[in-house]
Amino acid sequence: MLEQTLAIIKPDAVRKKFSGAILARYEKEGFRIRAIKMRALSKGEAEGFYAVHRERPFFASLVAFMVSGPVVLVVLEREDAILGHRQLMGATDPSKAVKETLRALYGESIEFNAVHGSDSAETARFEIPYFFSTVELVG
Ligand code: CMP
Repeated sequence: MLEQTLAIIKPDAVRKKFSGAILARYEKEGFRIRAIKMRALSKGEAEGFYAVHRERPFFASLVAFMVSGPVVLVVLEREDAILGHRQLMGATDPSKAVKETLRALYGESIEFNAVHGSDSAETARFEIPYFFSTVELVG
């Protein structure tokens, strides 16, 4: 099924200048970039985005990391984009991620793990409009 998913190139990967390599990989793997923007998230935006994790012990640290520098927000479209992007990212912990996945290549720890991706269709329906309006989906 043709799907859209939200990808975030996180502050660690942007700082290390991996944004271009990650975007090139998306296109190589058949994803279409439907929308893209670089943003410095506010604390409130990061807290709202990760609200499902607010009871987790790592929540405050996750939010602090996500506001530590600009992120690249991307809407990707492809057949089975949600699962396909999750497979391309690899496991949350880069040390457990399959070789050549984005987190294995560019992540350094479970927290500083280079990329985020919607984990289900329901999550994508929340995450895409969280950052993009309909008129921004131009690609
Ligand atoms: P992400 O896919 O963006 O979704 C939630 C994020 O929380 C996750 O990637 C990690 O960056 C972070 N995270 C998940 N588990 C842990 C953990 N045990 N310790 C620290 N951060 C975590």
